[in-house]
Amino acid sequence: MSKRSRVLLGVASLTLLASGCAAERAEGPPAPDVWVEPAAVPDSNPDPRVVEVDLEAREAEKTYLEGKTTTVLAYNGTVPGPLIEANVGDRLIVHFRNSLPEETTIHWHGVRLPNEMDGAPAVQAPIAPGGEFTYEFTLRDAGFYWFHPHVMEEEQIRRGLFGVIRVRGEGEPQADDEKIVVLSDALLREDGRFDDEIDDEIIMMGREGNLLLVNGKVMPALDVQAGALTRLRIVNVANGRFFNLALPGHAFRVIGTDGGLIPKPYDAEKLLVAPGERYDVLLIAQGEPGTELTLTNAPYERGHHTGLAAPMPLATVRIGEGPALSGPARRTLPDSGPAIERLPGGAADTTITFDEAYVGRELKFLVDGKTHPDVPPIHVERGATRVIDLKNDAEMDHPFHLHGFFFQVLARDGVAVADEALANKDTLILPQRSTTTIVARFDEPGHWMYHCHILEHAERGMMGEIVVSP
Ligand code: C2O
Ligand code: CU
Repeated sequence: MSKRSRVLLGVASLTLLASGCAAERAEGPPAPDVWVEPAAVPDSNPDPRVVEVDLEAREAEKTYLEGKTTTVLAYNGTVPGPLIEANVGDRLIVHFRNSLPEETTIHWHGVRLPNEMDGAPAVQAPIAPGGEFTYEFTLRDAGFYWFHPHVMEEEQIRRGLFGVIRVRGEGEPQADDEKIVVLSDALLREDGRFDDEIDDEIIMMGREGNLLLVNGKVMPALDVQAGALTRLRIVNVANGRFFNLALPGHAFRVIGTDGGLIPKPYDAEKLLVAPGERYDVLLIAQGEPGTELTLTNAPYERGHHTGLAAPMPLATVRIGEGPALSGPARRTLPDSGPAIERLPGGAADTTITFDEAYVGRELKFLVDGKTHPDVPPIHVERGATRVIDLKNDAEMDHPFHLHGFFFQVLARDGVAVADEALANKDTLILPQRSTTTIVARFDEPGHWMYHCHILEHAERGMMGEIVVSP
């Protein structure tokens, strides 16, 4: 049986089958579900500069399909997990307890921190069932980050172990409203349980679910006010799915990305968000009060004809009566943001090559022709700035993620990117058959991983290490 037919669920509420064919969807519009934001986890520390929280990973039950129970893995019992709220410069202390029946760790995706707090296998032994670990570090950068296990991540993340961190800083834009948008998906069987079967198509593209979820909900309704300035903090936590957001009649004004606000905001008609990436956008809802729009996931060609898929609905956007915002109070979108330090460019002194190949009958994902842990580490002097060519020889895009440091894109296929495109990234799409030149400053010693954030690829070898000398 092919994957396509296997994922077909004959449930009326499942109008959002993500198999890519409109004819396969059930009839009738789904009733919009309520919009739920991840709840902030309580801060138990009275010191205003310290955020101290408890996190527990455990099994929980969730209803994705009417009348069916899905056993998920959850931080503090919810999917998505809770929100950690902090200000830049705060000390974060996380008392973590592993109440799962299996090992885990927490990796703080995008956060610059001391190596021993990174939660990656290069630096932390897995926390056994029943075990505890205290993570503690200072939040150096304002931005929107997320956390997830770095043990069996292909399994644990898709079952629900992900949460978000919002770090506020100086000079944040004034918005009338702000929403968190956690994009994910789930591959479920008709009985509500996760479909764990795996085949070469799933391995190749990363596991894509048959339910598309926004903050853990199918097709929730987002209320915005006409003329008001709405800020969206967006993250894609899916194993393999790329989200390419489109909202009819609107562009997204991108004001920030992985590592915080950018100096030169720009408009995106479609906002492409690869697994692991974040975008910070503003939009002014256009339309008469009472208008309902559909936020969709537009097709995007990331290889293997994925661009031929049908658009898929993600959420309903309902425009409500806005405050009187005419005249001087009229909202406008910002054209500039805070400056960020530009790292020096220059010729690449290192090349990392990504590719995929059958080794015997097994599909492998390669870094410099090898699979992790056989990929030779890259050694860097502490404090050194390195220009690196990231070469993707594969016939599909791979989202590259670097732990512990931000990097900036210098060039695509040898052509310098515009000065305006300056941004601090930790996750970046490497388009198929192309070379992207990046620069990073390695100012924190330790063993830092880099890998493809399609988790099926990372676990099949597409991962390496950068060793920064003490
Ligand atoms: Cu979000 Cu090494 O990962
Ligand atoms: Cu990949």
